[in-house]
Amino acid sequence: MKAVICEQYGLPESLILKEIPPPMITSKQVLIKVITSAVNFPDSLIIQNKYQFKPTVPFAPGGEVAGIILDLGKEVKHLQIGDRVVALCGWGGFAEQVAVDANRVFKIPSAINWQTAAATLYNYGTSYHALKDRGQLQPGQTILILGAGGGVGLAAVELAKKMGGIVIAAASSQEKLDACQKKGADYTINYSTEDLRECVKKITGEKGVDLVYDPVGGALAETALRSMSWKGRYLVVGFASGTIPSLPFNLALLKGCAIMGVFWGAFTEKEPALSLQNLGELVQMILRGDIQQEIYKIYALKDAPQAIRDLMDRKIIGKAIIQVSEEIDTENIIPTETRTAQKIQTQQLSTIELPVRFLNKAALTGAIGSALGTSNWLMVDQEMINNFANATLDNQWVHVDPEKAASRLPDGKTIAHGYLSMSLVSQFLYQMIHIEGVNSFLNYGINKARFITPLQCGDQIRLHATISQAEIQENGSLKLFIHCNIEIKGKNKPAYVAEIISLIL
Ligand SMILES: NC(=O)c1ccc[n+]([C@@H]2O[C@H](COP(=O)([O-])OP(=O)(O)OC[C@H]3O[C@@H](n4cnc5c(N)ncnc54)[C@H](OP(=O)(O)O)[C@@H]3O)[C@@H](O)[C@H]2O)c1
Repeated sequence: MKAVICEQYGLPESLILKEIPPPMITSKQVLIKVITSAVNFPDSLIIQNKYQFKPTVPFAPGGEVAGIILDLGKEVKHLQIGDRVVALCGWGGFAEQVAVDANRVFKIPSAINWQTAAATLYNYGTSYHALKDRGQLQPGQTILILGAGGGVGLAAVELAKKMGGIVIAAASSQEKLDACQKKGADYTINYSTEDLRECVKKITGEKGVDLVYDPVGGALAETALRSMSWKGRYLVVGFASGTIPSLPFNLALLKGCAIMGVFWGAFTEKEPALSLQNLGELVQMILRGDIQQEIYKIYALKDAPQAIRDLMDRKIIGKAIIQVSEEIDTENIIPTETRTAQKIQTQQLSTIELPVRFLNKAALTGAIGSALGTSNWLMVDQEMINNFANATLDNQWVHVDPEKAASRLPDGKTIAHGYLSMSLVSQFLYQMIHIEGVNSFLNYGINKARFITPLQCGDQIRLHATISQAEIQENGSLKLFIHCNIEIKGKNKPAYVAEIISLIL
């Protein structure tokens, strides 16, 4: 595969486009066919060995990608081969394929295009977390955003406006400030030609700003801190200027203000439920057209070094994107030979957008009567039937002896144990439903179960599911009733119908 490689730490000009072997995945990783990669500030640091993460050379930079899953590690349950995803890979993204830990990979709806997909997560995820969770920006509050024409800065301008803030965008060029105005900035300050402190005073009077959003650091930081209101919040986001400021603590005392760190990467790991909720909200904003990443330019893979150079030269407004490869037809994905189960799933890619996401357990009580849709097709093969028979010590010949079945059974095929189709409901449901912060459903019971049509070896089945009841218990757990119907491809009658009951803690 092609990749832009850092063989020796240095400036972007030392990166080279090379043909290298595709990466291997571990049991907890997925292999992604990269369609688009985003260019982010850490890419400029990581190639110089100046970033907090220090991969050993040779490596490909590129920490944020959008693409299609080609292969899954054995322990990965919540993703499927063929899924459209975005991923935060740290590095390795300026390459045609990248291996990423599954917990850094997120499914995206088909309505989001590849450029938007690669360009949004890091910038908007950071800025939304900063404004909502850390700064707690309220409608009518004033916010000064430094580096406002950059990746996280422009995202902050747009989000702060949507949240009802009064936005003062500050940047080094008129072109950047024009972009901020397009995103709704109320006031703009060109800090390369104007006095930041005086301009803020003119806009806010003696009061100052309620929040500062600072991804730049350096000399601007103290001026911004001096421009804050009583009880303001100063959001420390980054140091694009290359200088970590040292500030006089007495300013914080005099203003009764808070200086608070924003570390989105750590937030996604330490508070995954809240982070997923934020991402879900951002996806909804994108789908509604409320937010849209400004794309500065789309570069070819071979021009990735130039894209990093443009970022370092402060030319990029919003985000630069690398078009790594063209979209592929998911039907043509060939998974590795070793994982039979995954091989089956590639034949069963569906166009349905799964899983259906719920923000919390309570959200399901409002979904009673709602269809959860239809799962992907799954082929029941002899290996699966044998494994089930071995696990349950139920080795009846109708299940496990294909030769005898061929001569004695009417259709000449072994049949799956009825309880096998029943047991497959769980894995279908993991595909179909996702409740933020919940990883497992406890089997609690089954109502009105019937095995209607024998399931033969080689049949393909899929699940249709509807929420029939959802009850929050006194201890806060959720009792969920799901009506299940397992369809057999090409047959009129289902294999299995039942109402299953799960307890979700
Ligand atoms: N805390 C977190 O969780 C988090 C998450 C994402 C990013 N970050 C950090 O936030 C900072 C900005 O990231 P970004 O993706 O928005 O980068 P970006 O797109 O390159 O924007 C950075 C902006 O900083 C300004 N700047 C001032 N001096 C600069 C210099 N010497 N070199 C480059 N830019 C300079 C530029 O605006 P003007 O030309 O208008 O001054 C530029 O537009 C980085 O330090 C990054 O590591 C932090």
